[in-house]
Amino acid sequence: MARQTREQWGTRAGFLMAAIGSAVGLGNIWRFPYIAYENGGGAFLVPYLVALLTAGIPLLLLEYAIGHRYRSSAPLAYRRIARPAEAIGWWQVAICFVIAIYYSAIISWAIAYMGFSVTEAWGQDPDGFFSGDYLQVADAPGGITGYVPGVFWPQLAVWAVVLVVLALGVRRGIEMANRIFIPLLVVLFLVLVVQALTLDGAATGLNAFFTPQWDRMLDGEVWIAAYGQIFFSLSIGFGIMVTYASYLKRRADLSGSAMVAGFANSSFELLAGIGVFAALGFMATAGGTAVNEVATAGIGLAFVAFPQIISTLPFGGAVFGVLFFACLVVAGLTSLISIVEVIISAVRDRTGLGRIQSVALVGGTVAVVSLLLFPTHEGLYYLDVFDHFINQYGIVLAALVMLIVFGWALRRLSFFQGHINAVSSIRLGLWWTITLTVVTPVLLGFMMWDSLRVELTSAYEGYPEGFLLTAGWGVAIGAIVFGVVMSLIPWRRADQQAAHDHEHSGLEEEGGR
Ligand code: ALA
Repeated sequence: MARQTREQWGTRAGFLMAAIGSAVGLGNIWRFPYIAYENGGGAFLVPYLVALLTAGIPLLLLEYAIGHRYRSSAPLAYRRIARPAEAIGWWQVAICFVIAIYYSAIISWAIAYMGFSVTEAWGQDPDGFFSGDYLQVADAPGGITGYVPGVFWPQLAVWAVVLVVLALGVRRGIEMANRIFIPLLVVLFLVLVVQALTLDGAATGLNAFFTPQWDRMLDGEVWIAAYGQIFFSLSIGFGIMVTYASYLKRRADLSGSAMVAGFANSSFELLAGIGVFAALGFMATAGGTAVNEVATAGIGLAFVAFPQIISTLPFGGAVFGVLFFACLVVAGLTSLISIVEVIISAVRDRTGLGRIQSVALVGGTVAVVSLLLFPTHEGLYYLDVFDHFINQYGIVLAALVMLIVFGWALRRLSFFQGHINAVSSIRLGLWWTITLTVVTPVLLGFMMWDSLRVELTSAYEGYPEGFLLTAGWGVAIGAIVFGVVMSLIPWRRADQQAAHDHEHSGLEEEGGR
């Protein structure tokens, strides 16, 4: 059988840029600041750091080890560990599909807002402008009643860029794009943060952000929020890091790279919190109000509070706005590329299709679905519900299942520890195995139980039950069903490839199974 050799990163720095590019995304810039603020401000940093050390970095290492050892996309890599585990890989592919379709919509709004910043198109009412004039949100969720060109065209542009980058391949496309985008993002973001810190009232915002509410640390919800943030932000539980690590060379410093990527992501996140709260402090001071009155949640923070800040600035508002939304666009694009690559890579391993064909076919399908569903009057509702359910009962649950299957059922963690130690600069001790076998699954299990309890007793955001059943539970459970069904379809090609790789493997095969 003619064998395609697996694509590889050009350099270690290229891989690191791509891993950081995937991690640093919308989650860092608009999600982290308000999550931290809502969950105890400065005190949130304690659970956040605990989550980084007990789940973030250890899971990142596990994903790197699996991708690097089996040199395949998530489904095929898991299948090579144990056949039934393939279902987890396809589940993650489905999760990436759902995230990709709505993530591209947020980037498209940010592109539009770069333009709106120049003219301050929102006038006196950024809130009404966002949901009314711009998104033209319908009164009730469900169905599709019409399209919104102002969202459609930028979203089409997002997909064009992402698909071209992916079609160019790992080295010439993904690595090159990250080599350009990441330094650009760092520069843009530093300029933005410095500009924010020089505003009147910046210190008030930082005080609000960092003043610890220690009593909140006893609140289980705060810990759940910290773990959820770390998962989304580090891109773990999606299969992304398995995919990216599968393009590494045989000799690759896995633990060193995981530390660099993990701490770079968190540093960026903290910087985002500082920049955003300095700006909110300015707005509160200018309006004579308290910071907690101007800090709104989530999407609102980026697309409602920032326009307000831009309009309040005595000068340079347009520059500040363009910079902020450009950061969202650049950070979002590099993450979206990694999310779609999980799907492309899995389909290629499954079917043997070439890169261009699979990008056209699979990437094209993801783009079309996303363009059908989100630039619509109901798009915001779908986005909100998909985001909530696929994060809670997709990413986090998939990571928990991975740990139960690989750690408890198959007892593979010490094998992966050995693999990491054989190739890396920093050696992992027993702490890594213990963390992943005991601490992380127990904490994640508790989180899951707690959030299910809340979910089943109160309708998310008060949405109608039918809508939550189809767009929420339906999508989350559909992703699991998809994973199981895909893993049951006979996979001849993978077996041939596995046998071939086994013959040609430079590393000794693991004992046992
Ligand atoms: N890790 C990506 C983000 O933070 C998905 O947005």
